[in-house]
Amino acid sequence: MTREKHRCKTETPEDLLACAVRAARAAGDHAHREKKRRHELVSASAHDVKLRLDLECQLRAAEIIRTTYSHHRILGEEDTILSTGQRDRVSSPHQVEWIVDPIDGTVNFHHGLRHWCCSVAARQNGETLAAVVYAPDLEEIYTACLNGPALCNGKTLAVSRTGKLARALVLTGLDRGCCEAKRPFPIFEHIATHCRRARVLGAAALDICQVAAGRADGYFEAGIFLWDVAAAGLILNRAGGCTEVLLKGRGHRLWFLGTNGHIHVELRTLITRAVHTVHQAPTT
Ligand code: IPD
Repeated sequence: MTREKHRCKTETPEDLLACAVRAARAAGDHAHREKKRRHELVSASAHDVKLRLDLECQLRAAEIIRTTYSHHRILGEEDTILSTGQRDRVSSPHQVEWIVDPIDGTVNFHHGLRHWCCSVAARQNGETLAAVVYAPDLEEIYTACLNGPALCNGKTLAVSRTGKLARALVLTGLDRGCCEAKRPFPIFEHIATHCRRARVLGAAALDICQVAAGRADGYFEAGIFLWDVAAAGLILNRAGGCTEVLLKGRGHRLWFLGTNGHIHVELRTLITRAVHTVHQAPTT
């Protein structure tokens, strides 16, 4: 049976996008309004924080989605703490599933940096149908739906034309929580050595949207989560870019590569070579 036949008959990607926009705005605007409370912690580890506003924002987004589509499954970054209990539930792959990161770039937000966002995606059969990345502090809302253009504040996005890694700006992340064994710093060193500049901005969804907007040429992170990339991946694809999951790990962890398309093979080859070199080097 084709995907088309499985696609929900009542909701079009445009309907889902309208709901995603409302959900992302509800979550993002709440965090923005309440940012004086950004120091209220639920927990903190050596390299990460969990904020009360993370939880409140996820609940706000979920409320909008549930009011509109009560039968849809929601997978959110904060499910474990909120005990919403849907994260590990097995559901039909044909059911629409919402992927929510209420505050991506939580550490940035906590410290008062403006590079953070709320990410909402609607997926079916593992494919994102509608996507929103909303950055209230930057007054930017990135949107896309299947077969439509990628937009930022209503304006069409297009990736850069940079064709060589040596001239590329590559955004990446160093999530030390996941990568002790994978040693992210040597991989970072490889990328930084071979491209014009590597940058770590700290909010994956918004970083990938920078590639969609042509302000950066590529993004790579080992051990990113599905909710960090589900929406931004579609936005980048619809802006003419190329996305690829290089590896799937447990607990919705991914190795994710997103580029303008022109440097994709070169960057993928570099990463593969870096991983090989890192794994052959003796651990200290
Ligand atoms: C994090 C950010 C960061 C990336 C981490 C993510 P969070 O998401 O996107 O840029 O390096 O891997 O976990 O925790 O702020 O939602």
